[in-house]
Amino acid sequence: MANSDATSQANTQRQASETCPEKQALLSFLSEHRWILNIYIAARSEEKATAAINSIRNAHPSSTGHLRFLKLDLADLESVTEAAKSFLASAKSLDVLFNNAGVMHPPEGSKTKQDYELQLGVHNIGAVQFTELLTLLLAKTASNYSTVGKEGCVRVIWVSSLTAERSPPGGVDLESMDYSKKHESKYTKYSVSKAGVYYQGTEYARRHKHEGIISVPLNPGNLKSDLQRHHPGLAFKVVNATILYPAINVIPWGRFAKIRSDLDEGSRSISEGGTGIAEKWYDWCLE
Ligand SMILES: NC(=O)c1ccc[n+]([C@@H]2O[C@H](COP(=O)([O-])OP(=O)(O)OC[C@H]3O[C@@H](n4cnc5c(N)ncnc54)[C@H](OP(=O)(O)O)[C@@H]3O)[C@@H](O)[C@H]2O)c1
Repeated sequence: MANSDATSQANTQRQASETCPEKQALLSFLSEHRWILNIYIAARSEEKATAAINSIRNAHPSSTGHLRFLKLDLADLESVTEAAKSFLASAKSLDVLFNNAGVMHPPEGSKTKQDYELQLGVHNIGAVQFTELLTLLLAKTASNYSTVGKEGCVRVIWVSSLTAERSPPGGVDLESMDYSKKHESKYTKYSVSKAGVYYQGTEYARRHKHEGIISVPLNPGNLKSDLQRHHPGLAFKVVNATILYPAINVIPWGRFAKIRSDLDEGSRSISEGGTGIAEKWYDWCLE
């Protein structure tokens, strides 16, 4: 989550020797915008977030940007509300909200505090509710930009996955979101949740584009990370050795691509010639 204070010029010249591409991208962004930026790292573990913040600060001691920790557990809707309240109490604008947090293939039966299947709870219900709580501020920020002739500066990013296209037809089955009527494997549940994230990106755009907010779902590609933490050792090693790449190569990422046709149809309302699934999905996440 990033917000800016355009009142001051910041010296954001960076060393070119950055090794982590995410940091590099962030720093290029800071450098290009030349504002004082506040980046909030919303995470459930203060210890991990502080370690990440310190490592970025130590690598860039001359930076005038601010990195702050925001306590957020997406698997607990009370925490989601508290995090949004705490953010809104301290921030006057919000330029970018990056809904990145994810959990993959946790042990069967893993649930959120409010008893939703864990992947649905984190990727969908938690992320949608957090985003909606911040939407007034996103819209206000977009409106402030438009008064000075700048459009397209405010955006929400939703991190989906290749596996969205491995989901059952239609992506999500709204009749069976607690999986009690029809058992699904944790693999299918992950792909359902990521199809849901795709719908969140398209549906949020449909609902909020008139407020000047851009909403983009993305597939980050296959990257080495902690996402495989719930996989048994051998499976983890095979996947790591075959399909995961360290995050250093832009190709084939960053391109626009067409999603599976039933998901594309699902993203459009019935009046727009689609099946209207995304609209219902989004409402379900907000219930
Ligand atoms: N890596 C890939 O190949 C790949 C491919 C497609 C999509 N993705 C998506 O990319 C996103 C980032 O994943 P990654 O690969 O970077 O995995 P990762 O290293 O495991 O990062 C996931 C992050 O989500 C956080 N998180 C998990 N549950 C949370 C919760 N309840 N509340 C708040 N934060 C929570 C984790 O925090 P903790 O450290 O506290 O657990 C961690 O910081 C995910 O949405 C994932 O599904 C990744």
